[in-house]
Amino acid sequence: MDSRPIGVFDSGLGGLTAVREIINRLPCEDIIYFGDTGRIPYGTRSRETILKYTHQDIRFLRTFDIKALLIACGTVSTAAMDELSAVSDIPIVGVVEASVRAAASLTRSGRVGLIGTTAAISSGAYERLLEKMLPDARIISRACPLLVPLVENGRFLRGDSVVETIAAEYLAPIRESGVDTLILGCTHYPLLADIISDIMGPQVKLVDAGAQAAAHLGLVLAQKGLCAAQGSKGAHSFYVSDSVSSFGEYASMYLKSPVPGSIEKIDIERY
Ligand code: DGL
Repeated sequence: MDSRPIGVFDSGLGGLTAVREIINRLPCEDIIYFGDTGRIPYGTRSRETILKYTHQDIRFLRTFDIKALLIACGTVSTAAMDELSAVSDIPIVGVVEASVRAAASLTRSGRVGLIGTTAAISSGAYERLLEKMLPDARIISRACPLLVPLVENGRFLRGDSVVETIAAEYLAPIRESGVDTLILGCTHYPLLADIISDIMGPQVKLVDAGAQAAAHLGLVLAQKGLCAAQGSKGAHSFYVSDSVSSFGEYASMYLKSPVPGSIEKIDIERY
């Protein structure tokens, strides 16, 4: 048993897709979340900048004596996962392996769509792993750089014609290619799941990278004997690098309930 918190981070709201799943699956776990809302988006930046931000995010989270780290960000997972895991003394879980594994088991036709940020798609990390797991798979991928800023500004609800139009344009070639599974390779995209599902049709299964990573984290904690004692309710704290009020407002729109913990602003450049 280990009562220390789990550290989770993303460039903004997207990592809440993983947090929601951790709270559902592992209600006894304490969570410290950091959303780097002051420096979002990460996915249009160079690998060098993404690594710099990532190291600062982790240094901040490690001030809390965390027992495990969930990188709830497709961009960071594709850019830094191998390098971070190699030197870490605590378990680190990212979103790529868990979501590719889920897609490989869900697809029947072997035609798998993938959407993500520009950095995540151009890294080729999701594709390489899927080809390894399913050598006959046909992967149709597309970077969707405008979706993160839209979500971050609360534009993720069905009926929002701006985001519906942009999502439809991004998804058109993937829909036309006849995929039966679509990896939402950026953790912001599950906030658009209704809109994406309307566009792709009910026959296409959506893989939520954040939720898959949270499920994988549960297995890792159990394997390593790091689960919190059962019975208590986990405490959750949220930190951001920009406005507390807009994070709170959009986070509760997504969670359909008030944010389950305090939200505080920090100066990430100090770390
Ligand atoms: N949620 C992040 C991801 O999964 C968004 C990255 C960004 O800030 O562009 O990639």
